[in-house]
Amino acid sequence: MAPSTRLFFTMAMLLFSFFFSSASSQSFIGVNYGQVADNLPPPSATIQLLRSTTVGKIRLYGADPAILRALAGTQISAVIGAANGEIPSLASDPSAASRWVASNVLPFLPSTSISSISVGNEALSFGDPSVASQLLPAMQNLRSALIASSTPSAASIKVTSVHSMAVLAQSEPPSAGAFHSDIAPTLKGILDFLNKTGSPFMINPYPFFAYRSDPRPETLAFCLFQSNPGRFDAGSKITYTNMFDAQVDAIHSALNSAGFPGIEIVVAETGWPYRGDANEVGTNVDNARAFNGNLIAHLRSMVGTPLMPGKSVETYIFALYDEDLKPGPTSERSFGLFRPDLTMTYDAGLMTKAPAAPAVAAGGWCVPKEGATEEELQANLDFACGQQGVDCLPIQPGGACFEPNTVKSHAAYAMNQLFQVAGRNSWNCDFRQSAILTSQNPSYDGCVFPGSGS
Ligand SMILES: *[C@@H]1O[C@H](CO)[C@@H](O)[C@H](O)[C@H]1NC(C)=O
Repeated sequence: MAPSTRLFFTMAMLLFSFFFSSASSQSFIGVNYGQVADNLPPPSATIQLLRSTTVGKIRLYGADPAILRALAGTQISAVIGAANGEIPSLASDPSAASRWVASNVLPFLPSTSISSISVGNEALSFGDPSVASQLLPAMQNLRSALIASSTPSAASIKVTSVHSMAVLAQSEPPSAGAFHSDIAPTLKGILDFLNKTGSPFMINPYPFFAYRSDPRPETLAFCLFQSNPGRFDAGSKITYTNMFDAQVDAIHSALNSAGFPGIEIVVAETGWPYRGDANEVGTNVDNARAFNGNLIAHLRSMVGTPLMPGKSVETYIFALYDEDLKPGPTSERSFGLFRPDLTMTYDAGLMTKAPAAPAVAAGGWCVPKEGATEEELQANLDFACGQQGVDCLPIQPGGACFEPNTVKSHAAYAMNQLFQVAGRNSWNCDFRQSAILTSQNPSYDGCVFPGSGS
């Protein structure tokens, strides 16, 4: 190939891989999976639904074991949460933190990808100063417990906390963003911890609430990413064209002036209700579709914000489903992107394809992929044998499947067992891409692999 042809070829490959990767789940688009409801579909159905969308991440308010198990083997990662009520004991007792990690994190690793633990929800503006002062020690104890667990995939989990926009004393213009001086000392310790551990600052910006307190038509257009005159920031000489960028940049400015410009910002919640009470301005399907649809398109464009160009802020949309048991005005129960029957409330542009066919339950067996490493297979083996319903006795000495006594052979047996008991969905045979489905019965001699031909 002539050099220019080769260059062209390389560029084409780069472009191809860019489009290819952006066609599937996108690492910066997440959803909040709240469960204050009595009508939600089972976690397995929900995870199957998410696999037909571009959602690559979910955030839980707790650490529901059924959801974390359903995520096993998928490419979807989870933020899990410790509740505000758990902060005092996590802060005062390192063994409480170890127990928290042992029951909410370790059983699901490494098959489920847990990206971070969020300690408390809006704890600094929770109204209880003692909780605020205990937030940092709780985060420190959890981080120590993760490291002390000597589980490699646990030590890389980030420990952070989610804050409301109320931590800002000023948010307009964005260049003047600054934290409240009364929480500054508490916040300083937390920011120091986040900066040292490479953990993100999580924030809940809601353009919806900004519109509610200033319900003019031009504010609505600014909040919905629709055409509007823009807002000029005299400090930075930037004209902002949407509220989301303005709010995120206000946080960036606040971090900057607190001395921590390098801390990554993650949007833990943002969203728009599709219905509300008669006196709730702007709550309708058109606005919700405009906000979430335009937000998703904005994130996908990778333009970033004016102060953080060229990169999309990791964003968790609120919310996956309505939470029908939440108190307050109707809008509080009306943020759901999907209905309990798994249909879309409205099309926000999240689907990559038609919803996946119902659980395949194809026949077949799940076995290691050619080229899977010994470490991967050992991890699969350990994980699978630790799961409910998986019987690893046959691969113990004297068992019918003990010979050949190799990690690969034992892992194959255990992985297939897990695939069978997990419901035989194709994604139950992923094991982070170290497994493959086969229609060839791997049973041999007296060793029977459960399963059936299709
Ligand atoms: C934040 O972390 C970076 C990278 O580790 C370091 O260079 C910087 O000094 C830290 N900033 C503060 C204010 O501690």
